[in-house]
Amino acid sequence: MELFDLTGKHALVTGSTQGIGFAIAKVLAEHGAKVFVHGGTSLEKCEKAAAQIPGAQAVLAPLDDHNCADTLYAATGTLDILVLNASVQIRKPWQEITEEEYDKVLDVNLRSTLTLIQKYAPEMQARHWGRILCVGSVQEFRPHKDMLMYAAGKCAMQSMVRNLGKQLAPDGVTINNLCPGVIDTPRNSGALADPEYAKQVYAGIPMAYAGIPEDCAGAALLFCSDAGRYITGGELVIDGGMQL
Ligand SMILES: NC(=O)c1ccc[n+]([C@@H]2O[C@H](COP(=O)([O-])OP(=O)(O)OC[C@H]3O[C@@H](n4cnc5c(N)ncnc54)[C@H](OP(=O)(O)O)[C@@H]3O)[C@@H](O)[C@H]2O)c1
Repeated sequence: MELFDLTGKHALVTGSTQGIGFAIAKVLAEHGAKVFVHGGTSLEKCEKAAAQIPGAQAVLAPLDDHNCADTLYAATGTLDILVLNASVQIRKPWQEITEEEYDKVLDVNLRSTLTLIQKYAPEMQARHWGRILCVGSVQEFRPHKDMLMYAAGKCAMQSMVRNLGKQLAPDGVTINNLCPGVIDTPRNSGALADPEYAKQVYAGIPMAYAGIPEDCAGAALLFCSDAGRYITGGELVIDGGMQL
């Protein structure tokens, strides 16, 4: 068994136009997978990212659209690897969260997780090989006070991972959760560029610095390859010790 060889595998990485998703898409392609690079803003942005990954194909599908699973399936067909990485964050005090914001965060971060798994997992089960990787957050353990629904949605996703881990295991399909801490991506590079804010953030991280997207890529490859065939329902925190 070639532990990390993904030749012939088809993989979709949601939210892979930048940041952690892009690093994961790249490492999967480097190990032989045919990768679909996905985003929600514009096809041009998806195509620009896909152009940097050999053999990758761009696909646009806003995950707040309730038909996103159908849209994506029409573009990708059957998959072997599904990485559920895209998410949105809305920062504000819990007293001020509106119904629209609640819907937006849970639609993108949680509802699409379910509908995409419902769409792609049955074919993985039928073929007795499949890898599903969710991207959670250290906020499952250390929630930020201004991201109540973001953290709640990530916890709900982890519950799905444990539940489905048990149900999909007999059919050779694994599902796991990768939980990043503070990773320097376009999402937070603006905030981290402020030395005062960065100092405050790094004070809460034993390693005292932010990770880079590639810090998540090796673990993603493990979970998505034959090397991870006996790991399911699990989670791995990649956070420089922040959860401790
Ligand atoms: N960075 C961190 O410090 C950190 C920490 C903990 C957990 N995480 C988790 O790690 C994952 C990746 O984070 P990141 O920092 O790399 O994110 P990022 O730089 O903000 O990138 C987010 C990606 O998700 C896509 N996306 C956002 N909203 C979407 C929507 N409505 N429909 C479709 N696609 C959408 C974006 O695509 P377009 O812009 O092209 O539309 C982009 O490719 C997320 O699940 C996040 O919660 C990150």
